[in-house]
Amino acid sequence: MTDPITTAKDGSVLVITSNNPPVNALGAAVRQGLAAAVEQGLADPDVTAMVIACAGRTFFAGADISEFGKPMQEPMLPTLVDQIEAADKPIVAAIHGTALGGGCEVALGCHYRIAVSSAKLGLPEVKLGILPGAGGTQRLPRVAGVEVALELATKGASIPATRAQAAGLVDRLAGEDSLLADAVAFARDVADTRPLPRASEKPMTVEPGVFDTFRAANAKRFRGYDAPAEIIDVIEATAALPYVEGVQRERQSFMKLIMGVQSAAQRHIFFAERKASKIDDVPEDTTLRPIKRVGVIGAGTMGGGISMNFLSAGIPVTIVEMKQEALDRGAGVMRKNYEASAAKGRLKPEQVEQAMGLLTPTLDFDALGECDLIIEAVYEEMGVKKDIFTRLDGIAKPGAILASNTSYLDINEIASVTKRRGDVVGMHFFSPANVMKLLEVVRGDATAPDVLATVMDLAKKIRKVAVVAGVCYGFIGNRMLIPRQMEAMKLLHEGATPAQVDKVHVDFGMPMGPFQMADLAGVDIGWHRDPSRIENIRDALAAENRWGQKTGAGFYDYDEKRTPSPSPRVTEIIDDFRAKTNTPQHEITDEEVVERTLYTMVNEGARILEEGKAQRASDIDVVWIYGYGWPPYRGGPMFWADTVGLKTIVAGLEKHGFEVSKLLRDKAEKGERFNK
Ligand code: 3HC
Repeated sequence: MTDPITTAKDGSVLVITSNNPPVNALGAAVRQGLAAAVEQGLADPDVTAMVIACAGRTFFAGADISEFGKPMQEPMLPTLVDQIEAADKPIVAAIHGTALGGGCEVALGCHYRIAVSSAKLGLPEVKLGILPGAGGTQRLPRVAGVEVALELATKGASIPATRAQAAGLVDRLAGEDSLLADAVAFARDVADTRPLPRASEKPMTVEPGVFDTFRAANAKRFRGYDAPAEIIDVIEATAALPYVEGVQRERQSFMKLIMGVQSAAQRHIFFAERKASKIDDVPEDTTLRPIKRVGVIGAGTMGGGISMNFLSAGIPVTIVEMKQEALDRGAGVMRKNYEASAAKGRLKPEQVEQAMGLLTPTLDFDALGECDLIIEAVYEEMGVKKDIFTRLDGIAKPGAILASNTSYLDINEIASVTKRRGDVVGMHFFSPANVMKLLEVVRGDATAPDVLATVMDLAKKIRKVAVVAGVCYGFIGNRMLIPRQMEAMKLLHEGATPAQVDKVHVDFGMPMGPFQMADLAGVDIGWHRDPSRIENIRDALAAENRWGQKTGAGFYDYDEKRTPSPSPRVTEIIDDFRAKTNTPQHEITDEEVVERTLYTMVNEGARILEEGKAQRASDIDVVWIYGYGWPPYRGGPMFWADTVGLKTIVAGLEKHGFEVSKLLRDKAEKGERFNK
């Protein structure tokens, strides 16, 4: 392997360059090379200053996450950063791309920082369930202030170089194409400056009440997570301490978090998300089909949300409806959504116009003929979908990809009405489609490899996390949701209340429980619409117009602000149903709720794997994290099952009489896990 660190002299400035693709992670070879290069610069009497820069697409994107959990090689990152800072010749960090985590900490160890204005800096360790462990909790508050440090370190977002400069984290901005030359000039300018500015030597200035205010303001966001609370505690506890003591406390907390199950779960998700984009039997260099214009059929909530993804990415969209009124309403909602983002400062007003300027609303179905990808987002009924695909087959240009946004239906059957089954694929977006990160890409029996590769690539462009699913009822996510919702309902019959079942799920870390979800989605979804036919509690609610939040009543009662409260009427309906069906009652424990609603999901996930409908267990985890709000600190249902122990899961399922998937049973018997 070639040495990732090279040095070159530009007059009296030693330029140290890292070239460790793809993201210049600070693995052992990089750390060793950097330490040696700094030594070299210090030992050379002709060198008066140094620059640390990176080749390729980015400055150091952090510690090498793949080294975590393995024996670490010297020098450790904190030692290296201390060595850089202790140098008695000025060292300038030259930043482009993203200086993240350990990369930002290296920059903080340098005496000066120069960045191109497109660069971003941040401490995303919290997203991996850990905290900045190379002095970041100590140097950042000293350089940029406690509030900026709390914001960056606990939320993991990065800030643009211009904001970093205003905060004192960047000293100078460089020309976009002249970073290295500007950094060398900067190094020359400061070559004789003494004493050198060292972040660790600055005091931490703390406004009274800042920590408690921050905790209170973010309590909801941080619920369930260990790392953000630990980060706030560390900065608070060390604010008045000298750096050396502060950094010791940082180390203790770092070690505690990295050994914990939350960090293992969140690191699992980091790699799972990236692995999900790879399709086992489709080569990475597959030639992609060009997508210059997208067509969307249906301007309802789904069609509008789907369109916004492409418009925001600069891809023109032709949206088709049957009636002018529906078309106008759809376009109006899109504009309103964009304007709401602009009002919150997330978009510039001109970006709203740019996006809306790319939209062509039309009643003319034939206008889809010029589109390279056409996504159908109409009513969920096979007959309707088949009609649309028959028409599309007649007008779409050769090579156009024909996609259905179906959430449950058989893509093979939809494709069968066309003479181009290879061009047909499922693109299952999640509502609200402009917000939710997940995209299930449903692979039909005949879907062509380049169609799959194109859609996966496009998903990245529109900032979605895509997962490939095989054809089966509900694909991955909704298929696993079905047993959960069914068991939740049975629990009501047998003695539980909606509030009890939901609380178990919310305490587990889900954004809402099964009944809160039903009320949000609509209790009437999939209802037969015959009020005289009461076959379950859901039918009974629907018959009384208790359709959920939209009618102000569902499993809960809602006030005008949509705040839920337990409903005496629902209790009556449940009691009535129990009596009519003579269902035996028993006391339902929280443990039983977990076993019957969550273990059953794992069981279904195992069946999905067994049938080859998901490529890997980690894909299932990604679906549930990004599509349904499964708490990232539990790593997704399959990772969570590993942490519970598959033997325990099997025993829990058997206790309640469930048929256990063969794969799950085999793995449990062999002492294996879903995720290695
Ligand atoms: N360590 C190891 N591998 C990494 C990595 C890291 N820090 N960051 C990215 N990679 C790998 C990815 O797994 C991926 O590998 P693959 O091609 O085999 O799938 C490859 O690099 C490219 O990554 P992305 O697909 O994510 O590339 P993007 O261009 O979309 O994004 C990025 C680039 C913004 C840098 C993004 O990769 C990222 O956010 N990386 C993680 C940053 C991070 O979390 N840093 C903190 C690390 S922990 C730390 O520093 C601890 C310290 O405080 C002690």
